[in-house]
Amino acid sequence: MEVQSIAVLGSTGSVGTRCLEVVRQHAGRMRIAGLSAHRSSRLLARQAREFRPDWAVLSGSVSDGRAEDFEGTELLRGLEAAETRIRRGDVDVVVSAIVGAAGLGPTLAAVDAGKRTAIANKESLVMAGPLITRRAAETGARLLPIDSEHSAVFQALQAGRRQDVRRIVLTASGGPFRGWTSQQMASVTPDMALQHPVWEMGRRITIDSATMMNKALEIIEARWLFDVSADQIAVVVHPESWVHSFVEYTDGSVIAQMSPPDMRLPIQYALTFPERHECPCPDTDWQQPMTLQFEPPDPVAFPALQLGFEAAERGGTCGAVLNAADEIAVARFLEGEIRFDQIAPLCKDVLHHHDYEAHPTLETLLNLDAWARKEARNWTS
Ligand SMILES: NC(=O)c1ccc[n+]([C@@H]2O[C@H](COP(=O)([O-])OP(=O)(O)OC[C@H]3O[C@@H](n4cnc5c(N)ncnc54)[C@H](OP(=O)(O)O)[C@@H]3O)[C@@H](O)[C@H]2O)c1
Repeated sequence: MEVQSIAVLGSTGSVGTRCLEVVRQHAGRMRIAGLSAHRSSRLLARQAREFRPDWAVLSGSVSDGRAEDFEGTELLRGLEAAETRIRRGDVDVVVSAIVGAAGLGPTLAAVDAGKRTAIANKESLVMAGPLITRRAAETGARLLPIDSEHSAVFQALQAGRRQDVRRIVLTASGGPFRGWTSQQMASVTPDMALQHPVWEMGRRITIDSATMMNKALEIIEARWLFDVSADQIAVVVHPESWVHSFVEYTDGSVIAQMSPPDMRLPIQYALTFPERHECPCPDTDWQQPMTLQFEPPDPVAFPALQLGFEAAERGGTCGAVLNAADEIAVARFLEGEIRFDQIAPLCKDVLHHHDYEAHPTLETLLNLDAWARKEARNWTS
């Protein structure tokens, strides 16, 4: 059996640590070639001692990342070091699990090097979807989604031909404020928004799930990843989070992927595709009664959703601007500077005031990312 060498970027995060659980389960099939963290040096060192990668990268400033903590692993500084190392021949798979726009550079490096790239960092596809998919087509890099919804779509797409797809239906848990009115949203505090009813995730994606901006970003991600138009994407609220998404075909057949909500499954599928293996996550218990609910989202209480459809339809620079504005809006909400129900209006204002370009270069996208962050920092209602 060939052993896959895997670089996990963002290994100390929610997705990264779960990815390492999967690798631990498949020790004879997978090995860790490299790891990266931003500031969590202690956890990174612990991971290095367990998985014995060739290298580990710390991209942020830390005081306690001493070389001796990493035993035989080479400790490198800065994300550029990770980009250099993932280009080498000794890495087969890159797991892109950094949070935010910082994940774009390493994702592009992996794709440019023609690596199998397992993408959790939705922000790279949101910001630069056309660029990433075009380069992947040029280099032969295989893009495999880790986001549970996109993994579900990817799995359901195995059931038919691309030209027979009518629609992709992304499911959304609805977050902690499902059923709330827009008036009630004004009183949401960071502590309330950080309590997700189903998924345990990093802070940004948890807040994004509460506003449904996460689903907005996923609409854009799906648009580029599966090469569908915005009007071929729909969203349905499904609070149990067992059905992770649907693909509807032209004959009306709807194929779903369903499993208990556990990120280890989509992570493993991205690593082992097209094979399937035992997974360290719970099975469906068919002896228990189960009710699955589906309902349309409330566009008034969750205005962020419409911004996702708009950005997916217009394409170009919209995804990069929306993502950057949201990253700052979430940080400002967590700092107590803006209200929860101001996140979407802030993002909408920044999105609608930017200099749109239909076919931006990477440089334009990065400049607009910086511009949108500045606008979002200065935004007042
Ligand atoms: N969590 C989920 O279940 C889930 C599901 C689907 C998709 N995703 C997506 O997966 C990505 C990761 O999410 P997460 O929930 O795992 O996030 P997280 O728990 O916040 O972890 C983020 C990881 O990225 C690193 N990092 C943070 N800022 C960085 C920077 N500026 N430069 C380089 N590395 C940086 C962190 O290092 P430190 O620990 O040192 O800060 C950590 O390893 C996001 O794009 C998210 O949307 C997550």
